[in-house]
Amino acid sequence: MDYQRVARSGQVPEGVVRRFFVGEAEIAVARWAGRIYAMSNYCTHLDCLLSSGHATEDGLLCSCHGSVFDYESGEPITPPATKPIRVYPAKEEEGEIFVRLPPDAVSADGPRRRHLGVTG
Ligand code: FES
Repeated sequence: MDYQRVARSGQVPEGVVRRFFVGEAEIAVARWAGRIYAMSNYCTHLDCLLSSGHATEDGLLCSCHGSVFDYESGEPITPPATKPIRVYPAKEEEGEIFVRLPPDAVSADGPRRRHLGVTG
């Protein structure tokens, strides 16, 4: 699958992580040291939203119980999480952020859009 535009570069400033949707896939996009990183928005510990966490020097911090995930590999650096999060190729071109999601990213087993209880 090709890269898909996700946001303007200015929507993810240095040290920030934000949530975006690509179709039905929910992803977190973070910037650290000028680089853009994209990953599943769900912590592998207890499913907290990583977009509620923080971009840190060591990696993406889940604010629920403090696990930190490596930006590039998705591996947990600190407990309690023991499984890696999914990470996706990301790039910036001409002030826009692009992410490449694998085909299964929108499947039942992949990242999903969280239903917010809105009906109709
Ligand atoms: S849900 Fe992320 S560390 Fe517990």
